Amino acid sequence: MFYGASKILFGVDLEVGRGRTLALLGRNGAGKSTTLKAIAGVAPPRKGNVRLGTSNLAGSRPDAIARAGIGYVPEDRQVFPMHSVEDNLAIGAKLGPQGQDFWKLETVYETFPILARMKERRAGLLSGGEQQMLTIARTLMGNPEVLLLDEPSEGLAPIIVQAIADLIRKLRSMGVTIVLAEQNMHFCLGISEDAAVIDKGHIVYRDTIQGLKANTEVTKRYLAL
Ligand SMILES: Nc1ncnc2c1ncn2[C@@H]1O[C@H](COP(=O)(O)OP(=O)(O)OP(=O)(O)O)[C@@H](O)[C@H]1O
Ligand SMILES: [Mg+2]
Repeated sequence: MFYGASKILFGVDLEVGRGRTLALLGRNGAGKSTTLKAIAGVAPPRKGNVRLGTSNLAGSRPDAIARAGIGYVPEDRQVFPMHSVEDNLAIGAKLGPQGQDFWKLETVYETFPILARMKERRAGLLSGGEQQMLTIARTLMGNPEVLLLDEPSEGLAPIIVQAIADLIRKLRSMGVTIVLAEQNMHFCLGISEDAAVIDKGHIVYRDTIQGLKANTEVTKRYLAL
């Protein structure tokens, strides 16, 4: 994976089991976001495969990857600021790759009552936490089978962080496969079962999250704890 001529990722090999949640952990600049962008097709890899089930998605456009069932929530909450909350949600609406239609306005509003209360409001007027919820909710409107979340807790108040953790656990219980990029291992402890650590564009460790937690050598060396 390159940005221009700079090589950023080096043979990153990650596998996530269906219905499982993988925490992709690493310090600032380790390559977490770049990995998610490579999977989502936003910054496509020059070499390598992105496989979902039996199909290879590498080289496909981001919209084709999204239609194949991979939902991507980037780190910079990209809402349409001049559009209402409801319009932002409607933009994300589609059936899942197997025709799944669980997520629609009604279910999103049930899950995110805060968004229901603000549906007429312009998205640009929401707080950071509300915009993060909206970005996640908009991605869910596409009924993804796999969800890529880039540091969803970053910069948010503890109560919102808690709400996002609860939401991720709920999605997990619904069978959504999740890759959660995070600097904060503690945020991932009650959420994910698997963990991978990335450093300088290499995957340097792969285990369960509990195994990682117990491995102080690895956490000291690669995570800012
Ligand atoms: N658009 C870009 N052009 C060139 N280099 C980039 C670009 N975006 C990121 N990089 C570089 O790629 C490397 C990995 O960055 P990346 O954003 O993937 O890290 P990260 O693990 O997500 O970090 P953070 O925790 O700060 O979000 C860094 O060295 C970064 O400087
Ligand atoms: Mg990042």
